[in-house]
Amino acid sequence: MPSCTRLAGVTLAACLGLSACTGRDILAMRKHPEQPEAAAVTAPAAPFKGPALAAATDYPKNPDSPRPQPPAAFASAKDPLQPTPENLAKGKAIYDANCAICHGPAGLGNGAAGASLNPKPANFTTPIHTQLPDGYWFWRLSKGGTVSPFSGAGSAMPPWETSLNQEQRWLVILYEHTFSKK
Ligand code: HEC
Repeated sequence: MPSCTRLAGVTLAACLGLSACTGRDILAMRKHPEQPEAAAVTAPAAPFKGPALAAATDYPKNPDSPRPQPPAAFASAKDPLQPTPENLAKGKAIYDANCAICHGPAGLGNGAAGASLNPKPANFTTPIHTQLPDGYWFWRLSKGGTVSPFSGAGSAMPPWETSLNQEQRWLVILYEHTFSKK
């Protein structure tokens, strides 16, 4: 860009001749005038507006849809455990052994065994996952894809209530929250 360099040179010369040359002038010289400003660093993701749960929804066909409401028996369940380093380590061990193969080691839904599934294993790092109540997690973990509307959509999510006891299910939910930053 020789013309640009020349232009900058001229401005610099003019500037040096003047006693009041501001930092802005110098900055202006360093930029090519026709070069657009570098796009402002990636815009922050729009805050999730919800609702996270809805009576009618097309999840799991559309993973960005609100999630179905859990049945009354699960709706108000609360994780009784705290995310202490010890509990998170236990939750991670359960996750790595049982869930990572489909949901991926970092919860992105990209585990090797999930590649051919439809619907795909959930990516736990999306904005909706910061809003889902404990009762939804516990319902999904307990019953998996065996209940409506997940069964009708062909979900391969296994039901864990027979192989993980309640404490183990809450532990793995605590660990999952480290992906969703809930
Ligand atoms: C065989 C593959 C497979 C394994 C193993 C598996 N999942 Fe899933 N999971 C899925 C699929 C597919 C979906 C998406 C469809 C659905 O929601 O039922 C899903 C969905 C979920 C959801 C609902 C998330 C949402 O966005 O609504 C939760 C919670 C979940 N899995 C937790 C787990 C946990 C925790 C484990 C391990 C204990 C696990 N899954 C193991 C396949 C799997």
